[in-house]
Amino acid sequence: MAEPILKWAGGKRGLLREIIALMPRDFRDRTLHEPFFGGGAVTFWIEPKMGTINDINTKLINFYVVVRDHVDELIEDARKHRYEKEYFYRARAEFNEIVRNGFKIPNIRLASLLLYLNKTAFNGLYRENRRGEFNVPFGRYKNPKIVDEEKLRKASEVLKRLEIYNEDFSYTLRVAKPGDLVYFDPPYYPLSETANFTSYSKDSFGYKDQKRLRDVCLKLHKRGVYFVLSNSYVEPVLELYEGIDEFEMFKVYAKRPINSKADRRGAVPELLVTNVPREERVGLKTAKRLVEAGAIKRNTTGVKSLIEYLKLKRSS
Ligand SMILES: C[S@@+](CC[C@H](N)C(=O)[O-])C[C@H]1O[C@@H](n2cnc3c(N)ncnc32)[C@H](O)[C@@H]1O
Repeated sequence: MAEPILKWAGGKRGLLREIIALMPRDFRDRTLHEPFFGGGAVTFWIEPKMGTINDINTKLINFYVVVRDHVDELIEDARKHRYEKEYFYRARAEFNEIVRNGFKIPNIRLASLLLYLNKTAFNGLYRENRRGEFNVPFGRYKNPKIVDEEKLRKASEVLKRLEIYNEDFSYTLRVAKPGDLVYFDPPYYPLSETANFTSYSKDSFGYKDQKRLRDVCLKLHKRGVYFVLSNSYVEPVLELYEGIDEFEMFKVYAKRPINSKADRRGAVPELLVTNVPREERVGLKTAKRLVEAGAIKRNTTGVKSLIEYLKLKRSS
């Protein structure tokens, strides 16, 4: 089982068991698409034989293309980084300059800087300002491992079997064939500070995008494509999926390993939706065995998740 090579907000390791539980039993033999790749916890865990990954973030996609096609050069360059405050700010400035000047994929230096910043920035966050510049400050770690050669090489092997896209998630309608499997993990639904369900920032993944995503799921279903979707457990999203007979909804809880604030608040509910028929699913018992047999468990000590109720369509 390969593992994520970047820390990414919304990483799905804490929910892996529940996500795998909903997949069809032959999930390893199916072509897998992951349109909101981020850190790619699900794809790396499954190690599909065929499929595609996608993310709208061009710097992130550049990174994965470089890991796939130029892993030796990436490792060689990344080994030169130093964990020092001044060096960090110089590296950050260089990263932003390459972005400002425009770059072509593959850009090995940009990938190497992204890896370095991801391992050394505060909280392992990736955050950009409006101009698309990375603006997270230097983080305090004991001795951060910037280059994990084994993990990078393993990830490279997995990515070699996959096509990599840098588009909107709707590319799945172009590439997914009957019998394929899609795992969707869109950004969190942006609730405003005032908890007004209808307001969201115009740049983020808002209600219109959520609706487009639901419509993509419906089209894929008609085509005979299976999907599992994780999403925010909030009213506007729940309303989009309830009442669709072929889809089932689940409320699940995940404790987040990365965000310590969320950890303190305890478990946050999330929504899972799937069109995989119940009798074809892996099921929770087997998923638990599969997931806990691998390396994932070692790295998520203290992360607990559970399915609160396995139903499903809210009968209203
Ligand atoms: C919640 S994260 C995915 C986390 C991932 N599952 C993991 O385990 O790390 C969502 C990702 O969707 C990407 N994204 C946002 N809008 C998108 C869009 N319209 N199409 C495709 N990707 C998008 C973001 O760049 C982000 O990386």
